[in-house]
Amino acid sequence: MEKYPGKKNIAVFISGRGSNLKSLIKNSKRKNSSYKILLVISNNPNAAGLNYALKSKIKQYAIEYKSKSSFERQSLKILKKYKIDLLCLAGFMKILSGSFIKKFSKPILNIHPSLLPKYKGLNTHLRAIKNKDKFAGASVHKVNQKLDSGKIILQKKIKILKKDNVISLKNKVLKIEHEIYPKAIVKFLTNL
Ligand code: GRF
Repeated sequence: MEKYPGKKNIAVFISGRGSNLKSLIKNSKRKNSSYKILLVISNNPNAAGLNYALKSKIKQYAIEYKSKSSFERQSLKILKKYKIDLLCLAGFMKILSGSFIKKFSKPILNIHPSLLPKYKGLNTHLRAIKNKDKFAGASVHKVNQKLDSGKIILQKKIKILKKDNVISLKNKVLKIEHEIYPKAIVKFLTNL
């Protein structure tokens, strides 16, 4: 099912709001975009982000997360059907198993709201503020079997100001996420 010659077929996994998905969709619509989003899968049927797919007429699947193995089995089937070249996790709050990564056999990218390797996992902004860090940021990295540990594709940092709190920092970093994720995909695809 190679629908768009010359463009790579991308799938996006989400769990909630989907603001990163929105930014990826927007960038995919540029004339010279090197990728096309063919489908969106959510582990949460109520994810608001599914509406962005709907608006852009992108195929969407809500696969209820009864268990990791059932979710992954169903997703894999769909990813293969659409001949997906690259899977992008965008606010996808589940950890993919090693077996899924192996069976999918195509690259997987993730966006993480910290300057990796600092602050893998959750509560990144709180940890950065508590540690009195001077900088925060976002990273796009390849997904491997270790949480938030794959090769970094692109990062951008911003200053943490004295007046920043978790919410203000989260908002500033989210803006950076929207900026770097599409760029990281293009960079990654160029070197593929
Ligand atoms: C983003 O900050 C992402 O980095 C993190 O969860 C948030 C998801 O936001 N993993 P959204 O669903 O893309 O709006």
